[in-house]
Amino acid sequence: MSGTLDGRVVIVTGAGRGIGASVSRLFAEQGAKLVLNDLGANPDGTGGDEGPAREIADEITRAGGEAVSDGGDIADTATGKRLVDLAVSTYGKLDVVVNVAGILRDKMIFNLDDEDWDAVIRVHLRGHFSTIKPAAAYWREQRNPDGHFRIINFTSDSALQGSPGQPNYAAAKMGIIGLTASVANALGRYGVTANAIAPGAATRLTATIPQDKKLGGDRPAADDSRSPDNIAPIVTYLASEASDWLSGRTLGAAGYGVTLWNNPEVRASISSDGPWDLEDLAKQVESEFRPLADGLHPSIFMGQIPK
Ligand SMILES: NC(=O)c1ccc[n+]([C@@H]2O[C@H](COP(=O)([O-])OP(=O)(O)OC[C@H]3O[C@@H](n4cnc5c(N)ncnc54)[C@H](O)[C@@H]3O)[C@@H](O)[C@H]2O)c1
Repeated sequence: MSGTLDGRVVIVTGAGRGIGASVSRLFAEQGAKLVLNDLGANPDGTGGDEGPAREIADEITRAGGEAVSDGGDIADTATGKRLVDLAVSTYGKLDVVVNVAGILRDKMIFNLDDEDWDAVIRVHLRGHFSTIKPAAAYWREQRNPDGHFRIINFTSDSALQGSPGQPNYAAAKMGIIGLTASVANALGRYGVTANAIAPGAATRLTATIPQDKKLGGDRPAADDSRSPDNIAPIVTYLASEASDWLSGRTLGAAGYGVTLWNNPEVRASISSDGPWDLEDLAKQVESEFRPLADGLHPSIFMGQIPK
């Protein structure tokens, strides 16, 4: 049976649990050869255990697929380089990088410790940089503008809509959108696309969020709509050769739905003939921007209207 990812060589970070594990299973079913990384950390990033990475790789090989595992910390850039080298030494090439690894340390901004800021920024932003840099260097060397190479990153509605209790996470996840846009523009000429996914699924990570703060909820669903397995199909499409046309974009995936986000765009502009006069600036902002502001995409999270 042929699959949409037959023979494609893929790195997945955070592959041991949740969305990463679902993506890895479907990719294997669709014929991908996998390098699976997971630190086996607690939801807050502490601890480490090689078990989750090894277990998913074992499960896939037992089912007849191809997978090797790595239990390193993805925010250590040596890990990203090692994964790219492992893909090339094991399978002879690299086609796709899927950056799923993530942690949460939710606090309101006024209670957020430096350490909780740094840990979340480190795992998400450095964790993405860690794989993207060596993969990009490898693809640049291939000199193959028709290479169908892929970078698939993981962002969040927390960033897109400003989750009030997740300032560190929202900042990191918005950073991933900027990183995605930058590498999409930089690497298109080398046959690489880069896109970001904002998922919604019931996993160990969302189980740490208080019930009343959940987007869409982890309410016990009568069906399997909150399963992380529902995120894997759109990631599979993005990883396939068919998605050459799509780059620099953010997609949402939750339940049985997939959405296409717009990038931030200029909706109105005002100007002055010279340095701004404060009164003139205020007048123009009030007359030109204020009527539009209500109609803009709401930067509110789960209906929490800013006071
Ligand atoms: N589940 C959701 O609804 C949701 C919503 C928005 C964004 N996300 C994002 O999707 C991604 C997957 O989340 P999930 O819900 O499957 O969580 P999860 O906790 O089930 O899985 C995350 C995995 O990443 C691994 N990990 C953590 N730190 C690591 C590190 N430094 N190096 C390597 N591996 C590491 C963990 O061990 C874990 O197995 C994350 O980036 C998360 O921020 C999830």
